[in-house]
Amino acid sequence: MQHLISLEDMDRDRLLTLLDRAQQFAELDARAAQPDSLAGVHVVNLFFEPSTRTRLSFEIAAHRLGADVVNFDAERSSTLKGETLADTFRTVEAMGAQLFIVRHGDSGACELLSELAGSGTHIVNAGEGRNAHPTQGLLDMLTIRQFSALPFEQLSVAIIGDIRHSRVARSDLHALRALGCRDIRVCAPDALLPDAGELHGYRVIDVTDDALRNADVVMTLRLQRERMEDGLVDSLEGYYAGYGIDQRRLSLAKPDAFVMHPGPMNRGVEIESAVADGPRSAILRQVANGVAVRMAVMEALVEHCN
Ligand code: NCD
Repeated sequence: MQHLISLEDMDRDRLLTLLDRAQQFAELDARAAQPDSLAGVHVVNLFFEPSTRTRLSFEIAAHRLGADVVNFDAERSSTLKGETLADTFRTVEAMGAQLFIVRHGDSGACELLSELAGSGTHIVNAGEGRNAHPTQGLLDMLTIRQFSALPFEQLSVAIIGDIRHSRVARSDLHALRALGCRDIRVCAPDALLPDAGELHGYRVIDVTDDALRNADVVMTLRLQRERMEDGLVDSLEGYYAGYGIDQRRLSLAKPDAFVMHPGPMNRGVEIESAVADGPRSAILRQVANGVAVRMAVMEALVEHCN
């Protein structure tokens, strides 16, 4: 594995190996001695879209493994002078950076960079268009494994919200499938569902209450208006009434079901605050697991080359 672009072709064994390693990192106190797997490695956060948790958790993960980290600020870079992504990448690679953490609005950006990359250079997709967000998919699987008493094969997972524009949902769907999950329900207004071809193998359920009934895991997604044509959602109030996860709706899921959201949340749009901050919320665990998963991924990529 030289790059991590998508979870689409990642098999169950590879996923489980990464999750096992991430679990070790999750259990390792951040103040204890850390492995120096990335000592001497220059990591560049190449983010062309906004990010809070993904960028910072990659940075913290890289520091914990002994890497040197620099952050690229697209807003203050030569991108504004018209420099292409490929030229920006080649420029930073020529400075000796080896591990590129890339967030970009174009689906295909990471694939392009992986084709340009030299043999000792690694590309990690940190969220690309609506296509894929593989480390989010991995951290979501780690969170499910920690919270759930059941194996993936026996889980009922309900994914509610703007699946059409969600790279998180696409990576989660690939990972859930690879891990053997059979009951995957998707629920969204028609305009926010992916095209039919992408939904093969999943149960599309029109009514949120029905999608949640006896679910073990409830995943809700942000309305990604930056990637949406105008008019797909009539009103935020109407969306909340139809698809918002509140305490009444959550009570339809299994008694030990838990709620996930990749963040950033729109409270009162996708999720009620009482749920987001309540005892059945896994949201901050997702964030914490982001550091552990990103440590495991970066370590695996660099080890591949040594
Ligand atoms: C997600 C993203 O950027 O795709 N955020 C994240 O990385 N945790 C989800 C979103 O923006 O809604």
